[in-house]
Parts: sequence; C-alpha cells; structure tokens
Amino acid sequence: MNGHAHTPLLVLIGFMGAGKSTVGRLLAQRLHCPFYDLDGEIERVHGEIPELFATYGESGFRAIEHHAMDQLLPKLPRPSVLALGGGAFLQPANRELIRQHGGVTIFLDAPWEVVLARVRHTGEQRPLVRDLEALRRLYELRRPVYQQADHTFSSAEHDPHVLLTSLVRLAEELGARNRRRATL
Ligand code: S3P
Repeated sequence: MNGHAHTPLLVLIGFMGAGKSTVGRLLAQRLHCPFYDLDGEIERVHGEIPELFATYGESGFRAIEHHAMDQLLPKLPRPSVLALGGGAFLQPANRELIRQHGGVTIFLDAPWEVVLARVRHTGEQRPLVRDLEALRRLYELRRPVYQQADHTFSSAEHDPHVLLTSLVRLAEELGARNRRRATL
C-alpha cells in the first residue's frame, strides 16, 4: 500500500475482447477519474504490439509488459481505472505488483462466443488471434486465473452501459466517488 488506502485503483482484467478498454474508459468518465490502458502505455513508449511480438517474441513482450506495470502502478493517481492487456494478469509477478499497490481487480467475463465474435478479425492488432484453435485453448486455460479477481462481472451484453451501471455501483461502494458527489 502506498498511502492511498481510501480511494481505489480499479484494475480491469479479462480475455481479449472482454471490453476492458471500452468499459474502462466509460467507467473512468462516470467516476470523473483518469483512465489508463496498459497496452496504450506500452505502445507509446516501445512501439506497436504486433511489432514487439515479431521482434522479441511473446516472452520479450511479457518482460516489457511487466516493466511497464512496474513503472506505471506507483505513479497512478487515486482513484483511477487501469485496463490491462489480456495476458498481464497471468504473470504471477504482475499479480504481486497489483497486490502491493492495493489494486482492486475486476474480471470482465465474456463467453467464448462473444469473445470470438469481437476479436476474430483483429489478428493484425492482436498477434495471439491468428490461430483460433489455439485462442480457444488459451481462453479455457486463462479463465480460472482471471477468476482469482476480487470481483467478477459478466460482459456478454451488447450494450456496455448495463455493465457500467454495476461497475459504478461497485466503485462507489469502494470509495471511488465522483467529484460531484464528493462536494455535496
Ligand atoms: C494479449 C492481449 C492484448 C495485448 C497483447 C497480448 C493477451 O490486449 O496485450 O496482444 O495475451 O491476451 P487486449 O486484451 O487489450 O486485446
């Protein structure tokens, strides 16, 4: 913990296509707090993710990803919302970093069919989407790890606003009150 015990860092986790970035951005807007996207931060500093996979392999990308989390987490204002890339929570060292910084993890749980429909044509941006059989196995392998999150929400709806209402309620319970409320 680093002195921000009363306002949370909300960390969105889940498979590719679960809606982490879309919902995270909307959630941050509703809470009047900043939104951070780990992949966006990585790309800003290191370049495009497909290029990183091509140059350094997945293990090289994971090292960069861990380093980016290590740099970013201590700097995040509270409250804030952070969306992780789909593989980040799989690394025990990253889970430990989130724990050290008091992050509250929220698993956005989307069924396989929903994930597939959302990501199947994104192979250019997402190197792991190129083999759909392997992707399905990865989905099954990862799900029990994502289920270690502090909170789980279904992300099957077409309209993210339904999910958003539940997330705002949770955030408020956790103390991430928006400014309008805080000044009442
Ligand atoms: C990955 C997910 C991607 C990105 C990279 C690897 C993964 O992020 O970090 O392509 O291992 O699941 P999104 O979950 O935002 O697509």
